[in-house]
Amino acid sequence: MRVGKWLDIGPVEQIEPGTARTLPVEGGEELAVFRTMRGDIFTIVNKCPHKQGPLSQGIVHGNVVACPLHNWNISLETGRALGGDDGCVPTIPTKVEGGRIFLLREAVLNPQVPADEAPKAAA
Ligand code: FES
Repeated sequence: MRVGKWLDIGPVEQIEPGTARTLPVEGGEELAVFRTMRGDIFTIVNKCPHKQGPLSQGIVHGNVVACPLHNWNISLETGRALGGDDGCVPTIPTKVEGGRIFLLREAVLNPQVPADEAPKAAA
């Protein structure tokens, strides 16, 4: 059987606007799928780059989530910490088709921070 490139995780309506749903990944990192008030869908690893706070429980404003532990603001688009804080959480390519949410399968199984977002190695 051919395995598709995109993983269908269900209808958009399963996530209330301005909230997130967690998605456990067997053998991988738990993900947080966010639906903004404008209706955009973003998926990131459910771990704050500061001290692993559960970002799915944060407050969503615009395309940003405020971590529930120490209030860092994390961009849902890039995974990057904003406002002078330093860190980045992996994002998972996500699309909506026919009212359903699809995640890029290879990124779900192996989430990675893009090279230009990764912390720089010490010189
Ligand atoms: S763990 Fe998220 S801000 Fe500290």
